[in-house]
Amino acid sequence: MVLPLLFLAFGLSTAVHSTRAAAQDAPAFTPREIGRILAHGPWPQPARPDPSNRVSGNAPAIALGERLFYSPRLSGTGAVLCASCHEPWRAYSDGRSRGVGIEPVDRNTPSVVNARLNRWFGWDGANDNLWAQSVRPLLERREMRSSAAQVAALMRGDPDLSLLYQRAFGAPPPANDEALLVDVGKALAAYLETLDSGRTPFDDFRDALARGDSAAAARYPPQAQRGLRIFIGSGKCAACHAGPNFSDAAFHRSGIASRLETGEADTGRQAGIDRLLASRYNQLGAYSDDASRTGAQLTRRASGETDAAGAFRTPGLRQVALTAPNMHDGSLATLCEVLRRHPAGESAVESDEAQPGPVALTAQERGDLLAFLATLSDADGSRMTGANPLACR
Ligand code: HEC
Ligand code: HEC
Repeated sequence: MVLPLLFLAFGLSTAVHSTRAAAQDAPAFTPREIGRILAHGPWPQPARPDPSNRVSGNAPAIALGERLFYSPRLSGTGAVLCASCHEPWRAYSDGRSRGVGIEPVDRNTPSVVNARLNRWFGWDGANDNLWAQSVRPLLERREMRSSAAQVAALMRGDPDLSLLYQRAFGAPPPANDEALLVDVGKALAAYLETLDSGRTPFDDFRDALARGDSAAAARYPPQAQRGLRIFIGSGKCAACHAGPNFSDAAFHRSGIASRLETGEADTGRQAGIDRLLASRYNQLGAYSDDASRTGAQLTRRASGETDAAGAFRTPGLRQVALTAPNMHDGSLATLCEVLRRHPAGESAVESDEAQPGPVALTAQERGDLLAFLATLSDADGSRMTGANPLACR
């Protein structure tokens, strides 16, 4: 009896010892791993004007867009503004499971920070450009319940807004209500394009690796380094959360099924494609300022997308420690919950071999990943919350 107990005690003590050692050690990254890490930068990404929006990057349009983003007068009741849901002090989301405008809506409010880097907009990609996505909440019954006529009357009737419009677009507000509504969307989009998140501890580490500056790299916490190694390696996260904004701009099934107000299943991208193709404001339509229609290529091909049912757009992960609750329906309250449920979820859609299979993470790996995810927030962001990796058990 004594012998096995001794063995047990010995086994336990070495296990404890090696966990402790692991908690302090930073991994030595291989050249291949370093290549994968560098692919998540540089940051910030260079400004790139949106060819479908003639006031993209235009300073007076940005000023007008900022005014409009904070104006409740755009809404049907005069009580809801963009910032009611995209609250600047919550990384431009709202801390709720699902957004609440004039009435509650079906999905979680995503941050609008870094939205200029998206290829599709909304969890289902129902819009292919930022100005159409900015028009959407104005017309949505449960969000701002406005109309082209109401928005146009406000723009024409308010001397300040008319003047700002004239400065931005080089002409007084047009007589056509819908054209004016779309221009309001374009001014809002020009403003949103300026909302980049700042540099993060991860970006400093990444650039230090790029320079071969090991002293600077050593300042990045070892636990975050281990989380990063899992993220780009065994966790397979970077297969979908790819590139500088940690999104592949594609749609995947996450295993989170939700229902719409009507009681029907939220089919995500499937219904999103129908809405995209039916929209008067997509890049194929008359309101795009891109004469070449180059940006419309993916839209033309959208009807051929397979496995769209129940798929949602991979969200970017910058500032993610600040935007809980998570997922398209806000059903996971914390990042900890996400790490418990999401990697083991149905992201391994059997019919789609391109998608990585489910991954089982240990508690230690979840803690490491959380420490890494927390380093994707900028200095403003980390002052706002202070995500605590130790809380993930
Ligand atoms: C009722 C809350 C609410 C209001 C008000 C609101 N939004 Fe949103 N916003 C959302 C929700 C919810 C989504 C996700 C929509 C979806 O996937 O169907 C979203 C998505 C977006 C996105 C897409 C972000 C991305 O990464 O795809 C942008 C851009 C955006 N909103 C801009 C605006 C602008 C501009 C206004 C004001 C004109 C506004 N929103 C008003 C809740 C709101
Ligand atoms: C198959 C592609 C895929 C893989 C692999 C993947 N994700 Fe995701 N991730 C998604 C999609 C899609 C969503 C949104 C799903 C939804 O809303 O239903 C998401 C959501 C998230 C969110 C919530 C973001 C938010 O704003 O709500 C986090 C955090 C996250 N993933 C982290 C990870 C980590 C960490 C890993 C690796 C352990 C990982 N993901 C692997 C596709 C993927």
